[in-house]
Amino acid sequence: MSPFLLTRTLPEDATGAALRADVLTGLTRHPKSLPPKWFYDARGSELFEEITRLPEYYPTRAEREILESRAAEIAAASGARTVIELGSGSSEKTRHLLDALPELHSYVPVDVSESALTGAAESLLAERPGLSVHALIADFTGGLALPGTPGPRLVVFLGGTIGNLLPEERAAFLRSVRALLSPGDALLLGTDLVKDEDTLVAAYDDAAGVTAAFNKNVLSVVNRELGADFALGDFDHRAVWNPEDRWIEMRLRARRALTVKIRELDLVVPFEAGEELRTEVSAKFRREDVRAELEAAGMRPAQWWTDAASRFALSLATAV
Ligand code: SAH
Ligand code: AVI
Repeated sequence: MSPFLLTRTLPEDATGAALRADVLTGLTRHPKSLPPKWFYDARGSELFEEITRLPEYYPTRAEREILESRAAEIAAASGARTVIELGSGSSEKTRHLLDALPELHSYVPVDVSESALTGAAESLLAERPGLSVHALIADFTGGLALPGTPGPRLVVFLGGTIGNLLPEERAAFLRSVRALLSPGDALLLGTDLVKDEDTLVAAYDDAAGVTAAFNKNVLSVVNRELGADFALGDFDHRAVWNPEDRWIEMRLRARRALTVKIRELDLVVPFEAGEELRTEVSAKFRREDVRAELEAAGMRPAQWWTDAASRFALSLATAV
């Protein structure tokens, strides 16, 4: 088998249809919202990588600290021959884990961003020419058709990306992950932890304005893909901590009353001055939340590791 395969699990026009449906639903409801997966065109993926290097954005460093110190333990507990990574992005932190798995045969990164998948595969294969990499361009919430690779399998979901799903989406997603696990397989899940509001808001509203550019990138995606005429300068980036739901909300606030035309939808969207469009939630967890959500999906949390400052956690879970 060739060491690198890239499979698009949905035809390209299905992605376009999904974007049209999400924009139509999200911009005609009140309050307005868009799902965060549309941030990640090639520019959005680059901006996310820039975010991971910002002084205020601690999650990537905290999770890398855990992976560096615990990779051998995780590898010994899973004994994986296949690692399936959901929302793999650059796969940068995952290398610590891949390097610790002596029996590793296949790596299956899954992402909506084709540029992230090809960039990650290029550098991984340069370092590990014997590894079989089967990348999937797919929506991880959409029922995954995985290639037939050898077990045991370790499903990896890092970065705290699970927090970008709404609670009911999270529950459905975790049940779908559970359905992927055979006896002997495991899930490694990264979750950002609840902490003080100032640290959280700074992580999503950095001084250099990179997160603001990432947030506004969704408007560029809608302009390009659906012929919309959003002027990025008409919107301000906002990051707000919601203590009831324990999540950060990223929003775009209209600076003045305006209308946006979306040619491909034949739609005119009015914004009032100060009206906000929610573009992302990023939920933060306590240990008991993670345990309850894993158990509700039919999984047993076996291990829990945090960084030294308890900012971020990795959980290892098996199927019940
Ligand atoms: N796991 C990496 C990247 C996190 S950024 C890390 O920890 O640094 C989130 C990644 O998930 C992006 O690469 C984005 O393209 C991908 N993503 C977001 N929503 C997705 C979805 N619904 N299906 C598949 N990939 C998705
Ligand atoms: C990918 N995800 C976990 C990031 C987060 O922290 O919620 C996306 C992000 N949004 C703003 N900054 C980073």
